[in-house]
Amino acid sequence: MKSSSSRSGVLRARTHPSITPIDIRRVSMPFRTTLTVLAALTAALLMATAPRVVTAAQDAPSGGESRDDDRSRRGVGQDRGQNRGNRQIDPAPLVARMMQSDADGDGRISRAEVGRGRFADLFDEADADKDGYVTEREMTVFLTERRPGGAAPRGERPADDAAPVDSKAAFDKGMAESGRALRGLRRTPFDETSFDRDLTSVIRVQDGLLAARGHVGSVPMSDAAKEKFGTDRRAYLRSFQAHMAKSLVTSFQLEIAILEGDSSKAKELTDALVGDRNGSHDLFEN
Ligand code: HEM
Repeated sequence: MKSSSSRSGVLRARTHPSITPIDIRRVSMPFRTTLTVLAALTAALLMATAPRVVTAAQDAPSGGESRDDDRSRRGVGQDRGQNRGNRQIDPAPLVARMMQSDADGDGRISRAEVGRGRFADLFDEADADKDGYVTEREMTVFLTERRPGGAAPRGERPADDAAPVDSKAAFDKGMAESGRALRGLRRTPFDETSFDRDLTSVIRVQDGLLAARGHVGSVPMSDAAKEKFGTDRRAYLRSFQAHMAKSLVTSFQLEIAILEGDSSKAKELTDALVGDRNGSHDLFEN
């Protein structure tokens, strides 16, 4: 028998002297497997019964670049254990339910759309930039940071005079980011020497489009769109979103082609993306 001070392979019962240590190396293979499975099951059971720590990043609804960045900058919804006694809520289902009041489909709730329900009383407070509409983002911020029980820890709340998000500027910034990245992709050879740069560029195209997508409601309707959709804003916004989604799909196909080292496909898809952009701009940009 090896000395009990041998570190590896010896399962020692440290807490009870009457329990004999087991030398795992001397245990038969099937029994060793049983021990391993038992250890894994115990760990899984402990994890399953441990109090769940939920982070805001897991909870946050998807879409929009700034939301997660913003939340992490302010430290919103960090380990809820640090915030005991201050019960946190998951805003996503509530926000989704409230957004169902968006009758004209413009991505925000007007006072008229809110009606006389319970939320009507809170409308002004939720409307952070006081433009008469509550956007999905304002609602999320309101529910996670301002409402009693949803408040962020003191000192980490945004100042009441924090600058409102300029939605149109955010849209333009996302588009500009995509534009710069796409310019790089049009000149690249899509070979091994450019792989890292290409992958970074295509992801920047996607990030820019995704960032812009959260702000489509702020874009003034172009003349071509007015001609096509008239006053049917719902149809206009749906078409706008569909064009954005198509560009995103093309950009994800391009990412796959780059990752698979398929240069000619990558070139084709870059051309297709330029085509998507031009078609979309013809209709939606003035
Ligand atoms: C890869 C695809 C795309 C690229 C690279 C791209 C790039 C750009 C760029 C560089 C701008 C000018 C931004 C600025 O003023 O600084 C712009 C503006 C614009 N883009 Fe895109 N775009 C793309 C796709 C789309 C799609 C799919 C749509 C609509 C469905 C769209 C709608 C617009 C609109 C409406 C503007 C003008 C905003 C305004 O000035 O009022 N774009 N885009």
